[in-house]
Amino acid sequence: MPVFSAPAPLSTHGPARIIAMCNQKGGVGKTTTTINVAAALAEYGRKVLIVDFDPQGAASVGLGVSTHDLNATIYDLLVAARPDTRSVIQHTEFSGLDILPANIDLSAAEVQLVGEVARESVLSRILRDVSEDYDVILIDCQPSLGLLTVNALTAAHGVLIPLECEFFALRGVALLVETIEKVRDRLNPRLKIDGIVATMFDSRTLHAREVIERVHQAFGDSLLHTVIGRTVKFPDASVAAEPITRFAPNHAGAQAYRQLARELIARGDAA
Ligand SMILES: Nc1ncnc2c1ncn2[C@@H]1O[C@H](COP(=O)(O)OP(=O)(O)OP(=O)(O)O)[C@@H](O)[C@H]1O
Ligand SMILES: [Mg+2]
Repeated sequence: MPVFSAPAPLSTHGPARIIAMCNQKGGVGKTTTTINVAAALAEYGRKVLIVDFDPQGAASVGLGVSTHDLNATIYDLLVAARPDTRSVIQHTEFSGLDILPANIDLSAAEVQLVGEVARESVLSRILRDVSEDYDVILIDCQPSLGLLTVNALTAAHGVLIPLECEFFALRGVALLVETIEKVRDRLNPRLKIDGIVATMFDSRTLHAREVIERVHQAFGDSLLHTVIGRTVKFPDASVAAEPITRFAPNHAGAQAYRQLARELIARGDAA
């Protein structure tokens, strides 16, 4: 395992590299990885924006943004064509970490966008306005390959694919890769797969190690070195509405996400 040293501080900020956190399989760690990589990058002095792109609003709630009494969400930018992205961004209580929040309203957007001109690039246009303000923008996708996820892939420079270390982990990944390739061909030639992040790894089971081995055989260097272990600290941190880097700063889970942030910086996938 290479050592990823602490990154040099940045003296200027922006334009952002945009990363979509994507896997149409549910519950694989997309939101947990979004929140905690974002928090770790912010600890390293990066300016980070999370785009909550799931009507469940888990990323918003997980950072202490109450999603019911919001004046505006990402939905208003997408559908009501509200012009000012900045006015919808919420600062979190975590320094350097902002969010474009979502709530259940977003579930209507997919249907409403279908008739739009250039319906796949609506998010891309929304983020163009604020890209200069951030070093990294992380889009927390919902578990689907529908139009919202296609918008995320069209807006992004790279895709991170969280993969739960369990037997059926690779099911569906071929379809995801196919979708990414289609978006690259037709809509967003710069799009690349930044990497696959193995999550919920349980070192006590032989099985989890076999899954990592198989993913490595299938994807080679796309599999990131950093592996996120399985621990109840993650659900505990969500209940506390904090990143694990704040909730349990010295826990192995917090260290793992800091290492993942450093690895992404070392690979050139984050500023
Ligand atoms: N490394 C981990 N160890 C243990 N539990 C975890 C870990 N990562 C995430 N979890 C828990 O697993 C559940 C699913 O994680 P998460 O919400 O991040 O997945 P998701 O891919 O965003 O799900 P969805 O597809 O529903 O959006 C959550 O309860 C979360 O707290
Ligand atoms: Mg999620």
